[in-house]
Amino acid sequence: MNKEVVLSGIRPTGFLHLGNYFGAMRNYVRMQDEYNCYFFVANWHSLTTHPDTKALHAAVNRVIAENVACGLDPEKVAFYVQSDVPEIAELYLYLNMLAYKGELEKTATFKDKVRLQPENVNAGLLTYPVLQAADILIHRAVKVPVGKDQEQHLEMARNFAQRFNHRYGTVFPEPYAFNYGGELVKILSLDGNGKMSKSENQLNTIYLADSDELIRKKIMKAKTDQGPLETNSVKPEYIDNLFTLLKLVSQPDVVKNFEDDFNASSEGNCIIRYGDFKKQLAEDMIQFVAPIREKAIAIESDKVLLAKIIKTGAEKARVSAAATLSEVRNAIGLVY
Ligand code: ADP
Ligand code: TRP
Repeated sequence: MNKEVVLSGIRPTGFLHLGNYFGAMRNYVRMQDEYNCYFFVANWHSLTTHPDTKALHAAVNRVIAENVACGLDPEKVAFYVQSDVPEIAELYLYLNMLAYKGELEKTATFKDKVRLQPENVNAGLLTYPVLQAADILIHRAVKVPVGKDQEQHLEMARNFAQRFNHRYGTVFPEPYAFNYGGELVKILSLDGNGKMSKSENQLNTIYLADSDELIRKKIMKAKTDQGPLETNSVKPEYIDNLFTLLKLVSQPDVVKNFEDDFNASSEGNCIIRYGDFKKQLAEDMIQFVAPIREKAIAIESDKVLLAKIIKTGAEKARVSAAATLSEVRNAIGLVY
């Protein structure tokens, strides 16, 4: 039986963090045994926000090293660099004719970027979701493991696929955002303001490359409060986020104890001690991050291995991409 196709990408715009891991990479590693997987480093997408390419080469290598350190196996999946697959750019061109200026201008990520970089509102930024749709549709992927911030881009990819199929005949299946367990993940930054991110709010984001000391420091100053005012309170978002992280890296009995302490606390009788909570979280987080960090350092320094991964990945990806593009050209009628 043909396995379902899975695809996802990460931009090489900085160090990978817990949001990337729990929103995306953890799923990649689980999916690689069950599906026909394509994962890639979205270096063209980086150019929309990071036009200075001095750091790009090293950043691509680091994204590859960190993914492999997390357990991604380049023998099981196609793991490639976006710019090595020119077929994506051609599909992007066709999809651009099916995307409308109005809908692109309304995209949440576009509006955010306009606010962040008013001096560089380039056409690549506007058509970012079209390139992302091309990334997905070029392999006719149906499941796309991503974090919650990407939901709207997936909806747009489905719209472009539908429009193409409607106009030229069915070539593409409709892709959906995917996470094991259903709900897409959003890891907040430790001060509770926005999400953990590669390039913003770095002191409140935990990176897979952070030292033990830095992890401890960041977690100990994470935002908390005086504790719940009633028993069984609803957790504020920033506390809920710390519990999410604890669930991800600590033993279930540890989580249960802190949950029970939280629920039993009330004004004047605060049983949960956020200082102890954060100490536990920091130590368990260090146990989780340190081995990944050390493996990534070793892989990143092995240039022969990296070159081999990149070359093999591009070869695998181009076979699938060329097959789709040939169907696309046939469907549109671009065959002379
Ligand atoms: P960033 O937003 O940090 O620059 P990317 O845009 O390259 O990272 O995202 C790569 C993957 O990581 C995407 O699937 C994205 O949804 C996921 N991701 C990024 N930040 C978070 C977060 N804070 N929580 C959950 N998932 C996230
Ligand atoms: N836009 C995604 C992000 O910022 C990265 C990305 C590019 C992607 N192309 C993709 C993710 C295709 C999934 C599928 O996180």
